[in-house]
Amino acid sequence: MPKITFEREQRVVEIKPGQTLLQAADQAGIDLFRGMWPGLHCNRMKGWCNRCKVWVTPETPQAINPPTAKERSPLRLNGRVHGSLRLACQVQAQGDVVVHTRVGGPEVAGNTDWPDTDEPTKWKERWEKRHEGKGGAAEPDEEAEAEG
Ligand code: FES
Repeated sequence: MPKITFEREQRVVEIKPGQTLLQAADQAGIDLFRGMWPGLHCNRMKGWCNRCKVWVTPETPQAINPPTAKERSPLRLNGRVHGSLRLACQVQAQGDVVVHTRVGGPEVAGNTDWPDTDEPTKWKERWEKRHEGKGGAAEPDEEAEAEG
């Protein structure tokens, strides 16, 4: 049974071989139609509306089918898919797959769990560099002293 991992939502579902990633998302309770007018799509399985775009990482090369003719068609309304970007309604899973969905879904998991460490990190460096000399990064105690 192929295991489909939805990274952003932190959900894992098992599906029957040959089922699409859109069906897997439905099974997991994840709505892939996001953005403006989520109800406006090609009624699934037709492959032309581009509303079900996801980034797909198969665990093995045979885990998913290659891009279908609908995905490669030069007459696509919103451009062809490329790289790991695929249409969930066109990808049939035969093995384990990791799926990264677009932002904007109602099921987005929080990402504010930063580990407490004294080691330098990229975001700290960027923050300090951005606020260097601008006075924007003052500690609350420094602000109180400056005012008092
Ligand atoms: S549901 Fe329309 S392209 Fe997949």
